[in-house]
Amino acid sequence: MAITTESVIDALKYVDDPDLKKDLVTLGMIKDVAVNGKNVSFTVVLTTPACPMKDMIHNACVNAIKHYVDQEAIVNVNMTANVTTTRTKDNTTLSKIKNIIAVASGKGGVGKSTIASNLAIALTKQGAKVGLVDADIYGPSQTIMFDVQNEMPGKSEYEGKPKMAPVESYGVKLNSVGFMAGPDQVIALRGPMASKALTQLFMDTNWGELDYLIVDLPPGTGDIQISLCSQIPLTGAVVVCTPQAVALADARKGIALFNLPAINVPVIGIVENMAWFTPEELPENRYYIFGKDGAKNLAGEMRLPLLGEIPLVQSIREAGDIGRPAVLQETTAQALAFKEMAQNVAQQVAILNATKANSELEKV
Ligand SMILES: Nc1ncnc2c1ncn2[C@@H]1O[C@H](COP(=O)(O)OP(=O)(O)OP(=O)(O)O)[C@@H](O)[C@H]1O
Ligand SMILES: [Mg+2]
Repeated sequence: MAITTESVIDALKYVDDPDLKKDLVTLGMIKDVAVNGKNVSFTVVLTTPACPMKDMIHNACVNAIKHYVDQEAIVNVNMTANVTTTRTKDNTTLSKIKNIIAVASGKGGVGKSTIASNLAIALTKQGAKVGLVDADIYGPSQTIMFDVQNEMPGKSEYEGKPKMAPVESYGVKLNSVGFMAGPDQVIALRGPMASKALTQLFMDTNWGELDYLIVDLPPGTGDIQISLCSQIPLTGAVVVCTPQAVALADARKGIALFNLPAINVPVIGIVENMAWFTPEELPENRYYIFGKDGAKNLAGEMRLPLLGEIPLVQSIREAGDIGRPAVLQETTAQALAFKEMAQNVAQQVAILNATKANSELEKV
């Protein structure tokens, strides 16, 4: 029997998106179905280019065609993505940003900036449009991590008003409070002024279209974090934590802050940083110097996804210091850990967006 586009579409109704738990046709993820003899081609539009299920969905589509349509079909699946959003359009420079993701922790020095830079680069490498705001007003570090200490944001315009053009490095659009002060200067602003300066950093940058804007927050749960959460439309927050008891206690406070009714920012999940120490010369060895599975257990207890376990490796620190984040190493265990973390973040954001869209539909 000749293959028809209808039979192809019917077969693809048997393939579910494992996260969204509906079939690809119902989800509107199948486009451009074409049939020519035994040749079948179509496009699958994923919810993120960093989808960890990409290969699985691809194979499931090929198998469905062979099983339900024709064993001898030659199937060509074009995998693309259109990152989802639940943000409402406004007239600010943030308007074309689909998802704004804060990287936070209650405690200082647990690796927020390291996680934020590697997350931004990992998402870019998988094909997403990504920006990063270094909002650590008291200790900006992204200009070093992105090796742009000697650069400055350029001039741009948004709807006739002068704005900054972000600095670009490793494909990521970056703006930082670090550009406002030289390396030996401090930004001496009190709470409300600091919050205002930060909001301006977001609003006075011409970001253009972005799939993800990552925000590197200063440590703690104080004024700055609270005002940022209420003024910037965050999609969610990634909480970074080490396995140590004191860090876990502070992570709980960080999570509690996002859960406050007045703030109400979804926590996307927890990243366990410095999960174990691995010496470069003994890559198989793991030493649990800060304790074992602390953040993993916290995630389980709070019913939050564990987004990644990043080892403590000397070259992660060195990579940050020389301005070439570790995820750029491609094949090392730490680069793979960052890539997996980024895929998990993107996956959870897609799930969050789908859940929110569904609950809004139900309200109608
Ligand atoms: N997994 C890791 N392996 C090795 N070094 C790491 C790792 N994560 C972070 N570091 C190093 O630890 C130090 C602190 O990390 P980072 O600056 O990312 O933390 P932070 O939470 O942003 O700190 P702050 O609260 O001061 O903003 C840095 O020198 C960084 O290079
Ligand atoms: Mg930092």
